[in-house]
Amino acid sequence: MNHQGPGARILVVGQGAREHALAWALSRSPETRALWVAPGNAGTGQEPKTRNISIEAHEVDALATFARQENMDLVVVGPEAPLVLGLADRLAVQGIAVIGPRQDAARLEGSKITCKRFCQQHGIPTAPARVHEKPEDALRDVATCPLPVVIKASGLCGGKGVVIATSREEAETAVQKLSQLPGGQEGLLVEECLEGWETSYIVLAQETSYLPCPSTQDHKRLKDGNRGPNTGGMGAFSPANRVTPEVEARICREIIEPTLQALAQSGHPYQGFLYAGIMVDKSGKPNLLEFNCRLGDPEAQVILFRLVDDLHAIFEATVQKRLDKIRWTSRPEVALTTVIASSGYPEAPSSEGEPIDGLEVPEVDTDLKIFHGGTGRRNGQVVCSGGRVLSVTGRGSSLAQARARVYDRIKNLHFAGMQYRKDIGS
Ligand code: AMP
Ligand code: GLY
Repeated sequence: MNHQGPGARILVVGQGAREHALAWALSRSPETRALWVAPGNAGTGQEPKTRNISIEAHEVDALATFARQENMDLVVVGPEAPLVLGLADRLAVQGIAVIGPRQDAARLEGSKITCKRFCQQHGIPTAPARVHEKPEDALRDVATCPLPVVIKASGLCGGKGVVIATSREEAETAVQKLSQLPGGQEGLLVEECLEGWETSYIVLAQETSYLPCPSTQDHKRLKDGNRGPNTGGMGAFSPANRVTPEVEARICREIIEPTLQALAQSGHPYQGFLYAGIMVDKSGKPNLLEFNCRLGDPEAQVILFRLVDDLHAIFEATVQKRLDKIRWTSRPEVALTTVIASSGYPEAPSSEGEPIDGLEVPEVDTDLKIFHGGTGRRNGQVVCSGGRVLSVTGRGSSLAQARARVYDRIKNLHFAGMQYRKDIGS
């Protein structure tokens, strides 16, 4: 890295609890000299060596300019939007190292149609699907296809682009609704509904080398017992005990490796986190549901809370193409995180500006950490500013102990309208 003086200058892009966890982990590295988070939140601004800079994650011109002017050694991109808009390409032109793929590779997340065609072309197991550019064609399809059926908007929809319809009426409504979204105007997929259990399998990749992060399991539905609408994720734990070494080996061999190889061969080598949303069927076969070109949120919180190694050293090895020389070592304990969301989340978060009580209690327990998501500051008080507000994260020698630690701490937290699942990891 081309830093002047000892230690690296790092920019983390994003404002959620995932970015707080990244900033927290990077700030602990002796090699990190200074860290900026754009735009960050009330939690990121509190970490050592770290300050927030008010540039939004989608403002790629302003981010590229800031990174150049401030002589950043490394930019770590949390969310997908700036990657899909080409932030990694812009930084590469400026000679700035980046964790996050180029625009072409990020299309695996940015366009579900591109991703499906990529899987079909390279023999990556995934649900059979039909692509429709016009809503009328999708309506004709769902009038006769087997039920339940999955309808997906192709473009980015912030977690609102997938509907599992169990009746014709629901399927028609979904086509109408999804085709109105900006991401749906790029086309729709009508996909066979798969059965099985899900896991989020994430690797840090550099061309065809990769380091698997520990297995995780997300809880996507809003309410206990996996009821209610899909969300960005209401809680997660790691390791996910259903991900046996056999399942993991199949995911790597059948999904991750052919993907990285195909991207490299087509001139779009991947660099950054690659997140495979997987459904494992009852025979143990993994099927790809989706790729994300980033760490998951809340998966990042549990992955990073278990990390033993220096995250900065891992990123440095990535950009220097030495991934095959290092390891990603996780603590043996279980980590669990529960998301505290605003009222109205995910449709219309409405706790904006509500003061949050209980954050001031000092964290004496090193096995517990509250990562901030949608928080800001008003007159010195931490207030809500987004849908997923906090991510209360704990470690324990068992899942039960990690759970108990997290739910015990939540008892002391309060803001008007707060909602969270009581059954993460149970
Ligand atoms: P995606 O954004 O494609 O991962 O979809 C969001 C969620 O919808 C997934 O986590 C699954 O729970 C569900 N889902 C997506 N595709 C399918 C499918 N083909 N069969 C069953 N469930 C699916
Ligand atoms: N937790 C799911 C995601 O980050 O996409």
